[in-house]
Amino acid sequence: MEQEYNNYTAEDHKVWSILFSRQMEALSLNAAKEFIEGVTKVNFQKDSIPDFNEINEKLSELTGWRLEPVKGIIPEKEFFELLSQKRFCATTWIRKMEELDYLEEPDMFHDVFGHIPLLSNPDFCSFLEGLSEIAKQHLNDPFALSLLGRVYWFTVEFGLLNENGTLKIYGAGIASSMGESKHSLSDKTEKLPFKISEILRTVYRNDVMQDKYFVICSLEELYQSLPQLKKELVNLIKEQAV
Ligand SMILES: [Fe+2]
Repeated sequence: MEQEYNNYTAEDHKVWSILFSRQMEALSLNAAKEFIEGVTKVNFQKDSIPDFNEINEKLSELTGWRLEPVKGIIPEKEFFELLSQKRFCATTWIRKMEELDYLEEPDMFHDVFGHIPLLSNPDFCSFLEGLSEIAKQHLNDPFALSLLGRVYWFTVEFGLLNENGTLKIYGAGIASSMGESKHSLSDKTEKLPFKISEILRTVYRNDVMQDKYFVICSLEELYQSLPQLKKELVNLIKEQAV
C-alpha cells in the first residue's frame, strides 16, 4: 500500500494544520524535549500533511526506520514483525473536520504526528528494536504478545517522562490528543514509577482516557529495562502454562 499524496483534499491539509497547531501549542511546554526536537528533525510543516517519502528519507538518515503505510489496525503478530524490520505502521487517511476530537481508531495524525518524532531518536529506537526482537521470539503466542502489547501501550503510546522534576509527555496516544495531553498531566490521574513487572500485570482499556500512567526518568531507561522484560515475560508464560 502507498500514500496517495495527491488524493489529499484542501480540507485534509486544513485538518492537519489545525491539529498540528493545536498540539504544538499544547506540547511546547509539556512534551519531552526529545519529542519536540524530533518534530524539527523530521521537518513537519504546519500547513501540509507530511509526505511519507520525505519522512522516510529523513528517518533513514537518522535511525534507519521507515513508515509502512497500512489501511488500519493490523494484528499484533504482523505489527511486531514489521516493527522488527524497523517498519512503523501508519495509516494514510486523516479524520474529517467534524471529528477533530473524536476518533474510533487511529488516523494518520495519530500515527504520524504522534509517533514519528521519537522515531528520530536513537535511544527510543533501540528500545523499539529490542522490544520487537523479544516479540519475535513469541510471535505464535498470543498471551506473550498481549503482555508485550501492555508494555508498548504504557510506554510508546501513553508514557510520561520525568524531566528534571517536571512531568512531560512522550507517548503518542497522549501527544496526538488534545484531551489526553491535558488529562494525563492533571491531578485526576495516577502517575506510577516505571516498573516492568507492574506494567506486565496491568490491564488497560483502549476506549477511554487512561487513569494511570507510568513515568520514566529518561528514554535510556526504556532500553535498559529490556533484559528484565525478557526474563519476566518468560516467567509469566511459565506461570500461565501451569
Ligand atoms: Fe499509536
